[in-house]
Amino acid sequence: MAAAAGTWTFSFPALQRMKGLLLQGALATDCLEEAMADIENDEVTGSFVVGRGGYPNKDGIIQCDAAIMEGQPGRFGAVAALHGIGTPLAVARKVMEESPHSFLVGDGAVAFAKDQGFTVEDNGRMMSTHSTEAYQEYLEKGKTVKKHDTLGLIALDVCRNITAGVSTSGAPFKYPGRVGDSPLPGCGLYADKEVGAAAATGDGDMIMCFSPCFHVILLMKQGLSPMDACQNVVQDILRRMGKENTFELGIIAMNMKGEVGAASSMSFPYCVWSQGKESVEQLDATITA
Ligand code: GLY
Repeated sequence: MAAAAGTWTFSFPALQRMKGLLLQGALATDCLEEAMADIENDEVTGSFVVGRGGYPNKDGIIQCDAAIMEGQPGRFGAVAALHGIGTPLAVARKVMEESPHSFLVGDGAVAFAKDQGFTVEDNGRMMSTHSTEAYQEYLEKGKTVKKHDTLGLIALDVCRNITAGVSTSGAPFKYPGRVGDSPLPGCGLYADKEVGAAAATGDGDMIMCFSPCFHVILLMKQGLSPMDACQNVVQDILRRMGKENTFELGIIAMNMKGEVGAASSMSFPYCVWSQGKESVEQLDATITA
């Protein structure tokens, strides 16, 4: 059974891409990296806070976070505060596969990417007209953008390999060096081939306080469906925070049967596809109040 899931409606083309590749028998990690790169490297989708054309930090530099986790134990790679590279998830994969480390940040991550043959571009080439205008408004009027989107993808291939990946340019106009939930294992993503995988989106400064993706996997391991596990985790977090301190959080999860669930504290569309289905579907997560 092959299947794929992605956060937000802008994951739709990525799901279509993964569907095609998975049906050809491609490996989960390869599908996910290719589909992610199409969106990360497109300055138009940068306005969804991902990769090229994403929002810069308060010094005007686009710094991206990305991570990949395979279901095999010990297979994780991440980068954070990475600048000048349009495909941060591909660098995270290289960290996983070609380095003795699991997580590289800032200039060290850029130097590693260069060593691996990535071209490091000037920040001006990473910025789009949209992100340049948004940054100008921030400088001139202090106008910030309340966006915390992350492209999170999950792929399950016909050989039962499961992989989760996430990529984001992080909180718009963030303090330089700020890292969100996305690249942190258990917070922005988690994968376990005996159980399934999960990915999160929303306010990373808060999400990282709860390791929600690891929690979802634990509940699925205890027998909950992906939908029930996501709902339980979001409910638990919101109950502990109290109504007045609600923050943006959306989670998607998939089990090894290719079943997908999602839950959120906000309006949160997500995309799913599984083998046997003609097309990619767009669904709305249950909102937990
Ligand atoms: N969830 C993405 C971030 O806050 O950086």
